[in-house]
Amino acid sequence: MNTIDVQGVSKSYRSGRGRVAALSDVSLRVAAGGALAVLGRSGSGKTTLLHCIGGLERPDAGRVFCAGTAVHTLGPGALARFQRRRVGFVFQSGNLLSFLTVRENLALPLELNGILGRERDRRVAALLEAVGLPGVGAALPRELSGGEIQRVAFARAIAHGPAILLADEPTASLDSETGERLIGSMLEWATGHAATLVVATHDPDVVARVTAAIRLKDGRLEEPA
Ligand SMILES: Nc1ncnc2c1ncn2[C@@H]1O[C@H](COP(=O)(O)OP(=O)(O)O)[C@@H](O)[C@H]1O
Ligand SMILES: [Mg+2]
Repeated sequence: MNTIDVQGVSKSYRSGRGRVAALSDVSLRVAAGGALAVLGRSGSGKTTLLHCIGGLERPDAGRVFCAGTAVHTLGPGALARFQRRRVGFVFQSGNLLSFLTVRENLALPLELNGILGRERDRRVAALLEAVGLPGVGAALPRELSGGEIQRVAFARAIAHGPAILLADEPTASLDSETGERLIGSMLEWATGHAATLVVATHDPDVVARVTAAIRLKDGRLEEPA
């Protein structure tokens, strides 16, 4: 099932400041279909945790089980397959490809999963409809507002029907009403698809709507959130 199980994960980075412990012995579990908020001030390790869960970073120690996959053990090929099939990622600033249209940005994850031609086009149109942006397919990302970019980024993250949706401060640059609508869409989508959602956020509106919350401080879990 789409459970997330993080067991004793530690991750440090070498930088100009020496060795930084981004995560220290973090364990958590999110039941299939659950929605977890990850709180903590800037630099507390939220992004690193999301990256470890989704396999964008490899922990130095500990284990990550994600939708039945031992993510920490995967080699490059298996990891790429796991990510493009099972994981959806909404980055803080959208990260749409600036030289592709909205439609092409949404087609990409579908094509990587072998969905081509008319079926791809049908799904792209349905995704744009689902996020309330049926008219923007031909636009380039720079022609969209911040809120529209995040909605397209969300559409891209769910295009292939992931088991796990990871969102890194997705509402950080949005006004509260736009942010609330985006979070509402994410929660509704996750519930409707029995997908598991982990969202890093500072936003109290988000925290009020998820099933559980944790707080990180200097890479450690702080109890209670
Ligand atoms: N690639 C990296 N190289 C060096 N240090 C990093 C890197 N990524 C994150 N860090 C450091 O790890 C800590 C946690 O960062 P991060 O996970 O981005 O926190 P948050 O998302 O909560 O702001 C910070 O001290 C940050 O500077
Ligand atoms: Mg971050």
